[in-house]
Amino acid sequence: MRLSLWTLLASSALTLSGTTAAVRNPNSFRPEDIIDRDVVILGGGATGTYAAVQLRRRGHSVALVEQTSRLGGHASTVYLPNGGYVNYGVEGYFNHDITKEFFALLDVDYEPLLPGSWLTKHIDFRTGKRVWPSSDIATTAVSAVLYRAAIEQFDYLAMGAYYFPDKVPEVLLRPFREFVAKHNLQRAVQLIFMFSQNVGNILDTPLLYVIMNFGIPQIHALLEGGYIKPKNGTDVLFNKAAIYIDEANNILYDSTAVQVTRDSAGVQAIVKNAKTGSQKLIRAKKLLVAHPPTLPKLQGFDLRAEETSLFAKWTYKTYYAAAVRSPSLPEGFNLLNTYPENRPGGTPTTPFQWQLEYSGVPGYYMSKMVGETNFTEAEARQLVIDDIKRMSSAGTFEMEAGEEPELVAFISHSPETMMVHVDEVREGFYKKLYGLQGLHSTYYTGYTFCTDYSTVLWNYTASVIDMMGL
Ligand SMILES: Cc1cc2nc3c(=O)[nH]c(=O)nc-3n(C[C@H](O)[C@H](O)[C@H](O)COP(=O)(O)OP(=O)(O)OC[C@H]3O[C@@H](n4cnc5c(N)ncnc54)[C@H](O)[C@@H]3O)c2cc1C
Ligand SMILES: *[C@@H]1O[C@H](CO)[C@@H](O)[C@H](O)[C@H]1NC(C)=O
Ligand SMILES: *[C@@H]1O[C@H](CO)[C@@H](O)[C@H](O)[C@H]1NC(C)=O
Ligand SMILES: *[C@@H]1O[C@H](CO)[C@@H](O)[C@H](O)[C@H]1NC(C)=O
Repeated sequence: MRLSLWTLLASSALTLSGTTAAVRNPNSFRPEDIIDRDVVILGGGATGTYAAVQLRRRGHSVALVEQTSRLGGHASTVYLPNGGYVNYGVEGYFNHDITKEFFALLDVDYEPLLPGSWLTKHIDFRTGKRVWPSSDIATTAVSAVLYRAAIEQFDYLAMGAYYFPDKVPEVLLRPFREFVAKHNLQRAVQLIFMFSQNVGNILDTPLLYVIMNFGIPQIHALLEGGYIKPKNGTDVLFNKAAIYIDEANNILYDSTAVQVTRDSAGVQAIVKNAKTGSQKLIRAKKLLVAHPPTLPKLQGFDLRAEETSLFAKWTYKTYYAAAVRSPSLPEGFNLLNTYPENRPGGTPTTPFQWQLEYSGVPGYYMSKMVGETNFTEAEARQLVIDDIKRMSSAGTFEMEAGEEPELVAFISHSPETMMVHVDEVREGFYKKLYGLQGLHSTYYTGYTFCTDYSTVLWNYTASVIDMMGL
């Protein structure tokens, strides 16, 4: 059942390729439509952008292919009429040399990331009613220290990559609730969920995926260095990166690779602009895939059997983010969705709106919605509005008559939280996955290969660039 959706998507994509058709013969491209580069990078989110910048810094040429009309991926900022802004995706980066060196290279000014508010009201979003946090929730520092002590034994995960020993310890494959019980982490579940709500139903999630979304690097940042953010929004970082990469010559926006052939000598990618329909031929020594390597996204690639069999195995969550305007919510509070009966921790279950996080700009909140694969964008949008209205009808907050909450910005980040079934992990999935690095001149980075945090992903990406041996 798990695999059937992907298989379905992959096969429908194959059928569709007949209609999208008209992929051209590589020999038919005029010289001005041929781009020769050292590396072609697919995906201009945190990792693809970082790779492009670092490769150029080292003197290599790049072509960066991004499906949307902007760089940033999971990082997005909305600028408000009053001059303020809301980062409704990525909010901050570890206050670490890796981040600061990147910011310095791009001349990005930064400041500490502080929460829009330290105050939280617990609300059961299903009823709209205030609930009381259970008395057994520890402070952030105590939770983090308890949790760190429990997971330190898995030191091979400390770099953020899925570098397991040959025999993966069974405890990593068991549901998180068992680890919580064994190590008495009940009081820490809320904090852990703060950083890993993208796993969905956390208590049922295999321990390894909880650690990969909130592990040693994240705890270290939380307890020691803290977080920083670019002044005037995360967009500033990516706008400056686009300049550094020389976007007019090296970035292909609104574009995807529609046909890719690879061998040990190099790569040919035909890239199509979805807006203009125009196609370019990119010839490169190396290919870096910096988006999740799912079969639907790799349609048109000359996938070998071992690649197809691994990429067919993903399961994932849907994840949506929004900036919400709702002036009648209580000023200066985060509203945290809490299901009191889901113990320990009171975390919500899918599909859910995780919280309405006060942005620091009066009336504006950040919101994140998580679901299984069948949770649609339309349902996520409706959920935000319905949750707020339910708080109003329950009398929790007074809403002016006729006042509608408004989604000022909304974005889909699906597929998110790339996982495979524990049987696959046991049978060496990740060893085989990393074994693909470098095969047929192809390399991979991004949150499928490493913990889903920018700073750690940048460090992993740097190691992948080293592997290219350019
Ligand atoms: C809402 C949200 C908040 C987060 N907050 C933080 C935070 O505060 N701090 C933090 O460190 N991390 C945060 N994260 C984690 C975040 O995912 C990572 O930090 C990082 O941005 C992931 O980078 P990536 O390059 O792997 O993927 P992405 O940023 O998703 O980049 C992938 C890129 O590939 C493009 N793409 C997709 N398919 C194709 C295709 N077929 N062809 C071409 N391009 C394609 C996408 O448009 C996108 O630009 C957050 C994640 C989410 C979803
Ligand atoms: C912040 O960025 C926005 C959008 O690019 C711009 O309009 C605004 O002037 C910037 N504000 C400051 C203070 O730099
Ligand atoms: C969505 O999928 C989940 C399990 O993956 C299932 O329990 C749920 O019933 C599905 N919801 C709908 C509306 O089909
Ligand atoms: C960065 O990656 C290297 C390996 O490439 C690793 O040794 C180091 O610990 C990582 N640093 C951080 C801060 O994750």
